[in-house]
Amino acid sequence: MRFAVLVSGTGTNLQALLDRQRAGELAPAEIVVVLSNRPKAKALERAQAAGVETVVVNHKKFAERDEFERAMLSELRQRDVEAVVLAGFMRILTATFLEAFPGRVINTHPSLLPAFPGMHGAQQALDYGVKVTGCTIHLVEAGVDTGPIIMQAVVPVRDDDDADSLQGRIQVEEHRMLFEAAGLMARNRLVLEGRKVRIT
Ligand code: GRF
Repeated sequence: MRFAVLVSGTGTNLQALLDRQRAGELAPAEIVVVLSNRPKAKALERAQAAGVETVVVNHKKFAERDEFERAMLSELRQRDVEAVVLAGFMRILTATFLEAFPGRVINTHPSLLPAFPGMHGAQQALDYGVKVTGCTIHLVEAGVDTGPIIMQAVVPVRDDDDADSLQGRIQVEEHRMLFEAAGLMARNRLVLEGRKVRIT
């Protein structure tokens, strides 16, 4: 299954997938292109270093979100992309984009959804004072961090945590699960029943 990974920033989640690809462990999933909305995203360098094609579709060059999404779709269609991983992609996607990949867009979020959606999941968890948080890999629907949950991992919050230390431990789990979820999707083992994702 031909995947695009959409990024906006540092790209440690992308790196985890690229490392698995290099080790021959990602198949039958294959990352064929990395698309960034930010021209200077460090994630682009990671893709280039791994020999994966990169594309920039800068959202600032489009007056309407719809046009931006159509431009991304055009790039992905040219490369016969079948599925999409959002790995720190910081733009909201609407039906314009999502309807091109029904049930085939995965996101990783640094909290146990539905707690702490949106930005700064680790900081939100610290501010609330929860004792455990974690990360969620989910299917993307039009809505912020609301799609059906594929898998979650729990990360304990320590008394001396700051947002960086907590985010670091959350990301260890994200990196592992994103790889697992992409593999399951590529094997058609994710079955959506209502809001529930069954892993067959
Ligand atoms: C991850 O923590 C992810 O949950 C969130 O954005 C962050 C991206 O990190 N959506 P990176 O760019 O993969 O390092």
